[in-house]
Amino acid sequence: NRRQFIALGIGGAGVAIAGNWLRQETISSQPVPQSSVDLTPIYQSNDGLLELDLEARERIVELAGRQASLLTYNGQIPAPRLEAKPGDKVRIYFTNNLQQPTNIHYHGLHIPLTGNADNVFLEIESGKKLTYEFQIPNNHPSGTFWYHPHLHGLVAEQLFGGLAGLFIVRGKDDEIPELKAAQEEFLVLQDFSINADGKRTNSAHMSLMMGREGELIAINGRINPSIALSKGGLLRLRILNASPSRFYRLALEDHSFYQIATDGNSLSEPIEVAQLLLTPGQRADVLIRGDKESGQYSLLNLPYDRGSMGMMGGRGMMGRNNRDEPITLATVNYEYAVESMALPSKLNSISALPEPQTVRRFELNHGMSPAVGMAFLINGEPYNHDVIHTQVKLNTIEDWELINTGVMDHPFHIHGNAFQIISRNGQPESLLALRDTVLVKRGETVRIRIPFRDFAGKTVYHCHVLDHEDLGMMGNLMIEA
Ligand code: C2O
Ligand code: CU
Repeated sequence: NRRQFIALGIGGAGVAIAGNWLRQETISSQPVPQSSVDLTPIYQSNDGLLELDLEARERIVELAGRQASLLTYNGQIPAPRLEAKPGDKVRIYFTNNLQQPTNIHYHGLHIPLTGNADNVFLEIESGKKLTYEFQIPNNHPSGTFWYHPHLHGLVAEQLFGGLAGLFIVRGKDDEIPELKAAQEEFLVLQDFSINADGKRTNSAHMSLMMGREGELIAINGRINPSIALSKGGLLRLRILNASPSRFYRLALEDHSFYQIATDGNSLSEPIEVAQLLLTPGQRADVLIRGDKESGQYSLLNLPYDRGSMGMMGGRGMMGRNNRDEPITLATVNYEYAVESMALPSKLNSISALPEPQTVRRFELNHGMSPAVGMAFLINGEPYNHDVIHTQVKLNTIEDWELINTGVMDHPFHIHGNAFQIISRNGQPESLLALRDTVLVKRGETVRIRIPFRDFAGKTVYHCHVLDHEDLGMMGNLMIEA
């Protein structure tokens, strides 16, 4: 596992010198065609192997009719979509052609946290290469996962530049007949801030500690794309919030969502919801029945107030909550009332996790720290690279009580190990879904239950408002074998 692989690029083709394999001239995974709303290339695994070149670099991309200089993987906004199956091997020949160091986090995947896998402590300097290599466990859940940079201090900036892509694990949940028959579309939500010269700006709200938000909201790199329902009466949307700070509260005019999965993990049956709140990092997998009159229906982003620093004045100054008016992010259209298709009645059955061996408390807030000044804190401490903040034992179950004593909302994310929500403010949570990111609203206490399984080593937990993470709201987690 700890073996290091070194890839040497030769004229774009590349030969890998490594433990026991030699890289083929032609890599096995080739981009395949996509749908009208999603023009990003897709790489799928072949014979148990997902293998591709991935290059991070700044590139001029057309965005909202302007030429914008963005940070891309393989020149694409969003990044190519990767698809693999449980049991598959993954090899990514990564080159960092950004002007600054970076690395890759495989958000939500249950894979090794060390070596050249989901190791956020790797630092790949500008101009350097690294081969990521890991295997997706045979019992890995199907779901919607994603990848993005994770070098502490640069995470918000690099995501805001555009570096994010989906990582789909296709498995037995996708074999459910109703889901196979549905029209599947992927929506990657990103926001950008571009000045008149097409340069990225950090947006003025940054200094106000809410985290940067851009005035341009793109779905799959496009402003207000149209999603044509063509295949029948059932549309499956797999939605990712890849924005560093912006929350989305989504609704589709005249339609409900039937949610079938949260952050990549299936629910036990579809749940009808009128609105979907997605914090940074979260995903939702929903079905929409095209059983209304033919026409166009707006996918709306509704206002949401995620708090503010009251001591700094009125809310206008406080970074940008969503606007007061709903805005249209995309349009779903169908030309004729399609025959309604049945929803699946059963999905994956999920059981409650056993009682925990250990209970811990984590207080989320901001404040002054003697070492760094104003910072975002967990249990009163800002992130320190050299400290192990939390030590747990492999193959144990823990309850973490997340207590937000601050004035803004924090979505809390743990690497590598999905969890269940047990209660919110003492009220038991009935939904047994597994998640990797949970919203802890200001004033709220959320209790989660985490099984630490399969992979020992050091990793992190943090707020997924990535400016908060970069400004200290992160801890090192050591999972002891
Ligand atoms: Cu999506 Cu630690 O992050
Ligand atoms: Cu936060």
